[in-house]
Amino acid sequence: MCGIVGAVAQRDVSPILLEGLKRLEYRGYDSAGVAVIDENRSLQRTRVQGKVGQLADMLDTNPLDGHIGIAHTRWATHGKPDVKNAHPHICKDTIALVHNGIIENHESLRKQQQQSGFEIHSETDTEVIVNAIYACLDGKDFLQAVFNATEQLEGAYAIGVINVNEPERLIAARKGSPLVIGVGIGEYFIASDVFALLPVTQQFIFLEEGDIADITRDKLIIYDADRRVVDRKINISELSADVADKSGYRHYMLKEIFSQPEAIAASIEGRIHDDKVALDAFGENAEKVFSQVKSVKIVACGTSYHAGLIASYWLEEIADIPCNVEIASEFRYRKSVIQEGTLFVSISQSGETADTLAALYLAKQSGFLSTLAICNVAESSLTRDSDLVFLTNAGPEIGVASTKAFTTQLVGLFLLVVALAKSQDLSEQAESDYVKQLMSLPGRANHILQYKEAIETMASDFSDKHHALFLGRGSLLPVAMEGALKLKEISYIHAEAYAAGELKHGPLALVDADMPVIAVAPNDHLLEKLKSNLQEVRARGGKLYVFADKHSQMDSSEGVQTLQISNEYDYMAPILYTIPLQLLAYYVAVIKGADIDQPRNLAKSVTVE
Ligand code: G6P
Repeated sequence: MCGIVGAVAQRDVSPILLEGLKRLEYRGYDSAGVAVIDENRSLQRTRVQGKVGQLADMLDTNPLDGHIGIAHTRWATHGKPDVKNAHPHICKDTIALVHNGIIENHESLRKQQQQSGFEIHSETDTEVIVNAIYACLDGKDFLQAVFNATEQLEGAYAIGVINVNEPERLIAARKGSPLVIGVGIGEYFIASDVFALLPVTQQFIFLEEGDIADITRDKLIIYDADRRVVDRKINISELSADVADKSGYRHYMLKEIFSQPEAIAASIEGRIHDDKVALDAFGENAEKVFSQVKSVKIVACGTSYHAGLIASYWLEEIADIPCNVEIASEFRYRKSVIQEGTLFVSISQSGETADTLAALYLAKQSGFLSTLAICNVAESSLTRDSDLVFLTNAGPEIGVASTKAFTTQLVGLFLLVVALAKSQDLSEQAESDYVKQLMSLPGRANHILQYKEAIETMASDFSDKHHALFLGRGSLLPVAMEGALKLKEISYIHAEAYAAGELKHGPLALVDADMPVIAVAPNDHLLEKLKSNLQEVRARGGKLYVFADKHSQMDSSEGVQTLQISNEYDYMAPILYTIPLQLLAYYVAVIKGADIDQPRNLAKSVTVE
């Protein structure tokens, strides 16, 4: 998703902007650009369709020098990925602007602007903002012009704006899209997230909804949505600038898959005392809220949605609490009936997913008992605006396809389930058993990672396939769904997941020798049922790839490849069985030569609707 960087300093800001863009690459993008005001008070801009590396090459040949500038990575929404649509957009050689978000009334604004003589140079919704600011200038102060122009905008935006007539002033605003301000010594920066600025500062201010910041080299004034001057807290980040290196792995995704034992351990750490779940892991008020919970509504997108589905099996089975899971983009646009005592749980790696945030804001007005966020980013909008928070502590996830963020979300959700079960009279013995299962996870995850080579070999069978089917039952069905999502995201092989019992109601028609079928088959109460379903596949000539455990009694045979990845079955199975599917997707994508960390058309942080 689009990334913004900006800087006002006494030094040349181009290297800061370029490094910032490199660090935002993980968000996903298709074009990039930078603009500075040079010493002659003139706007200089370079844009490219393609990667930040190409932009860097162009700047090597034709450097841009300036003490103030803005830069952008664009993930196309309105208008195809090309140079004319890349940001920064400029109006009449005077105002330059970068934008993340979507302006919903761009068509009517564009028409008005054309009627009043503005030339339109791009197909983007963004260009109307820069024109609106220019139109509002009309002898007025730059900041006032931004105030007035943003009032015309409907939709979401984070923007950075510079003006050749005030070459020391950077104006930033946010509504619906994230933006942070980096505080330096005699210099300020703006960016879509803290990673972009870690090489230049550890101090950050997170702008809130509706804020506009008036920034010069030595002064920062923030106005809130009512245009009152406000003080916003400076946060010190503990992340180090090299947090985003690959540590010798070929891809971030592989590094992140292999870091799951530590990430899981980090998300458990401090959350268990004397074999008991520490309720304050969810916030000060958690105990009181949990004692009143009668049902749970989970809302999320993508991989996080799959985590929610798994949790719903756990919740009903372990805590006897009814649970309903919904995709955020659906929940936000329909009428829901909310029963008394329902806890609203949102799950999000980034905490900035536009649909999940909108669902939270709707939930806050809809009579839920309380709101809880399961999130990996401490200072995200989701965590700031939820009543209760569980931080997954997985460390930054850079690969677009989510891996460690997912398994640590499941850790948080399992802790939540046990915490809620405690308020429903869970025995101490049962609690301690569940805690032991959780504590065994890092070691067992490590064990599964050792199947790397076997899975890599298995992956070679998929290189010429166009479709794949994933099967699971019970809480392993969402694992199959997540496996299918991973494979399609990064290898571009069409993959579907089905509850194995549904096979005969349709998908069996597709099964032949060209349709590999992947099954997750732990030794649970549904194993025998699953085995019958797999027979249906074999009888039609479909080739099976089965991940099972030692006691599943499933061996490799003609047309069936089985990997016994685990020694025993318990509630941790959905977390553990996810790992081989991540590895499978990864190695298939490697063989296919795909862009694994930044798959085509996808973005890490989906901050627009
Ligand atoms: C994008 C990412 C997915 C992620 C989803 C939800 O689609 O590519 O990996 O699962 O957004 O993101 P969130 O940050 O809310 O978990």
